[in-house]
Amino acid sequence: MAFVQIVAMTQEHAADIVTWRYAEPYERYDLIAADPGFLTDPANGYVALVDGGVLIGYRSFGVEGRVPGGSYDDSALDTGGGLRPVLTGLGHGLGRQAIAAGLAYGYERFQPAAFRVTVASFNTRARKVVESLGFVHVATFNATTDGSSFDILTCQQSLDRR
Ligand SMILES: CC(C)(COP(=O)(O)OP(=O)(O)OC[C@H]1O[C@@H](n2cnc3c(N)ncnc32)[C@H](O)[C@@H]1OP(=O)(O)O)[C@@H](O)C(=O)NCCC(=O)NCCS
Repeated sequence: MAFVQIVAMTQEHAADIVTWRYAEPYERYDLIAADPGFLTDPANGYVALVDGGVLIGYRSFGVEGRVPGGSYDDSALDTGGGLRPVLTGLGHGLGRQAIAAGLAYGYERFQPAAFRVTVASFNTRARKVVESLGFVHVATFNATTDGSSFDILTCQQSLDRR
């Protein structure tokens, strides 16, 4: 069982993450145009996920988790992220552990009234994981970038129920 921890986004982690390429149909999650310096800038809300010191993923907190075209307000803190591509889809619950670790960190650091995620409608894998953590669907919209469908889910329950 992995022991997932949140640590600061270093230049080394960021340089690794921008090379990650997800298999179809998840390639839209590639941070293909991202500058490592953008990920390390604390203003952009990225943190790294490690297991035994090895980088396994990242999480973001704030507007980076939003998709153009969605209706957002400040009643919830947006969060997003991803696992290292080779670790996705293993069916071992690693993504669930990763997101749960991110929520625990985000709750302690930001004390939000609620968390919000925006998930591509085709991404049943991610949807299953966030719903297992207590997220509930609140809206569906089409992205202004390419017209593709996204769902917004929020979670207000306290951490002790996860
Ligand atoms: C989304 C993510 C966190 C999920 O974590 P994961 O460890 O890969 O997920 P798992 O392999 O445990 O699969 C989760 C569930 O989805 C199911 N699943 C996997 N692929 C599926 C598919 N194509 N269709 C339907 N269900 C699927 C699994 O069977 C599992 O179900 P279970 O909980 O009933 O056992 C991870 O894949 C990731 O970081 N992906 C990066 C890109 C991305 O999708 N980002 C989403 C941002 S919101």
